[in-house]
Amino acid sequence: MHSTILTKQFDVQAIREDFPILKIKVHNKPLVYFDNAASTQKPQSVIDKITEVYTSQYANIHRGVHHLSQLGTGLYEETRKTVQNFIHAQSEKEIIYTKGTTDGINLLAYAWSAAYLKSGDEILITALEHHSNIIPWQLACQRHGAILKVVPVQDDGSILIEDVKKNLTEKTKLFAFTHVSNALGTINPIADFVEAAKSVGAHTLIDCAQSIQHIPVDVQAFGCDFLAFSGHKLYGPTGIGILYGKEKLLEEIPPFQGGGDMIKDVKFEKTSYNELPFKFEAGTPHITGAIALKQAIDYVQNIGIELIHAHEDEVLRYATTQILQIDGVRIIGQAPHKTSVLSFLIDGTHPYDIGVLLDQQGIAVRTGHHCAQPIMDQYCIPGTCRASFAVYNTLEEVDIFIAGLKKATKMLL
Ligand code: ALA
Repeated sequence: MHSTILTKQFDVQAIREDFPILKIKVHNKPLVYFDNAASTQKPQSVIDKITEVYTSQYANIHRGVHHLSQLGTGLYEETRKTVQNFIHAQSEKEIIYTKGTTDGINLLAYAWSAAYLKSGDEILITALEHHSNIIPWQLACQRHGAILKVVPVQDDGSILIEDVKKNLTEKTKLFAFTHVSNALGTINPIADFVEAAKSVGAHTLIDCAQSIQHIPVDVQAFGCDFLAFSGHKLYGPTGIGILYGKEKLLEEIPPFQGGGDMIKDVKFEKTSYNELPFKFEAGTPHITGAIALKQAIDYVQNIGIELIHAHEDEVLRYATTQILQIDGVRIIGQAPHKTSVLSFLIDGTHPYDIGVLLDQQGIAVRTGHHCAQPIMDQYCIPGTCRASFAVYNTLEEVDIFIAGLKKATKMLL
């Protein structure tokens, strides 16, 4: 048994009991789930809430005087308050439900761009971005005649603040960047990036898809204008996410989608829009997903995000030390500040083959470009094998993974 400095406060075995899927076997082997950057598994409390809503609490929200509609509306709005507290937003009006991070960024790329982006303006992103924080801005720049600029990434996977500053100009209208890289695990220095953007008057958007489950997120401390994340990487349901925006800016931005719930008064001559946050929530939303997101956040908060982060760092450190014992291993992404992601290649093997051979041993990792092709191109590789960790992973699982990797490598070389 591995000893851990965290055993007193953090009981990983008890946590594992909360996740029923961790008991399944894959190819007759106990599951080792190391694909948490793609999506995390769900605790029983989230699963139970989804069942409870559809069993006894479900109706459409914001529309009915009847009991179930009122009940559903209350639960849906309770999650909004939970999210507000979780990310330290000033007001519930700043919390907009989306389908996920991608949906939130696309909302801004349309609606924010309509209000703020003109021909000749610049949008700044980084070379570390997930495709969902690249393509929406490419499309927005095409629509508005703006220019997309990219901050380069160092060989170790980190970004220098000097490079950010060099690329910010008085034409920069928005700096959109990831908090944690899903492909390499790099943690960006959020406060420095925001401060630099503010000094040229640019707005800031932080993609927290890969950080919200690992690191405390505080929108007021970050000082950002916008921030997006997904429920499904935070132990919650798929199809639900959050876009945070400063109230004043959200007031200024026109609606994104038109439909039910986002209006105050509809006339053929002129329609007036609902107040925040409903102005950005057209149509029947993912009611059950939103309600169950509260259980996911409660789950994380009951353990404590700092403890989760410390545990995951311990797993990452151990996995990093162990993998370096394997001949021919190359870790892609070795920034001094990183979390929960171990991207690697093994000389003479293809990541896909490693992924398949690990899967046969019950070990789930992701292979490929991880929806971050530009950073793979920078390393002149088509992709990596990626092990990514969550609250329920253990050092013993790392041992199984390393043994599996040695076996796979032996078969391939
Ligand atoms: N963005 C997710 C990943 O990194 C899907 O795998």
